[in-house]
Amino acid sequence: MHPTINIAIKAARKAGDIIIRYHNQIDNLNIENKATNDYVSEVDKLAESAIINEIKKAFPSHAILGEETGNIIGDDDYQWIIDPLDGTTNYLHGFPQYAISIALYEKKIPTHAVVYDPFKEELFSASKGEGAFLNSQRIRVSNALGFNNSLIGTGFPYTNFDHLNTYAEMFKSIAPKVAGIRRAGSAALDLAYVASGRLDGFWEIDLSIWDIAAGTLLITEAGGFIGDFTGSPKFLESGNVVAGNEKVYKEILKELKPHLTKELI
Ligand code: IPD
Ligand code: CA
Ligand code: CA
Repeated sequence: MHPTINIAIKAARKAGDIIIRYHNQIDNLNIENKATNDYVSEVDKLAESAIINEIKKAFPSHAILGEETGNIIGDDDYQWIIDPLDGTTNYLHGFPQYAISIALYEKKIPTHAVVYDPFKEELFSASKGEGAFLNSQRIRVSNALGFNNSLIGTGFPYTNFDHLNTYAEMFKSIAPKVAGIRRAGSAALDLAYVASGRLDGFWEIDLSIWDIAAGTLLITEAGGFIGDFTGSPKFLESGNVVAGNEKVYKEILKELKPHLTKELI
């Protein structure tokens, strides 16, 4: 295993310890409202500081982008992207579906990624060219031949409602063709679940870079596909994401196409 992934894993586990330490004391936490339905707790901040400390100890010159801290200037050829708690709404309700997401991009290419679910103790990791893993088991995307019998993950709008009607039309196109659609509330875990074949595909509008920076490497290292709504690799910029095994990915793109407004292309 590459030493860099070990640093990312160590950082994720430290953050996970903090998240679990507080998970039975949610009523006592300081919670701020960043925007409509967008909450941040002191746990998000403590977890992010713990991750940043680990990264800085090992790689003092690297640049870091954390959801709660913003940009820490450094050598841009090595850019860490962190979501210390993806699924804060779930966490604050005691709904056990949340994760830590940590990725390293070298010259804009994802090279190491960790998505860690501290409640279920499931650690998804990948390094470029070395495959994707759940704990120490190799993972692959599903073998689904298309929408038939497939389980699809998604996230619906809940802070910004600009695309709510478009989203509803997308949902109406896909729902009758698949076995089920799940909105589990952590995009980083949704992508990890596509990488491990628990979900056959996924789509969501308007995600942030820290939600998807790690999941994208898990998916490609697990043999899957990820792109924006036109199939282009610009999803990190737009936050509009489709992922899946090759067949389901293509089916989702086909269903979304008639609903794409100019803001989504
Ligand atoms: C959110 C989760 C959610 C997605 C939102 C994200 P947060 O992240 O990933 O599944 O639908 O768009 O913002 O705010 O809990 O880190
Ligand atoms: Ca997030
Ligand atoms: Ca977050």
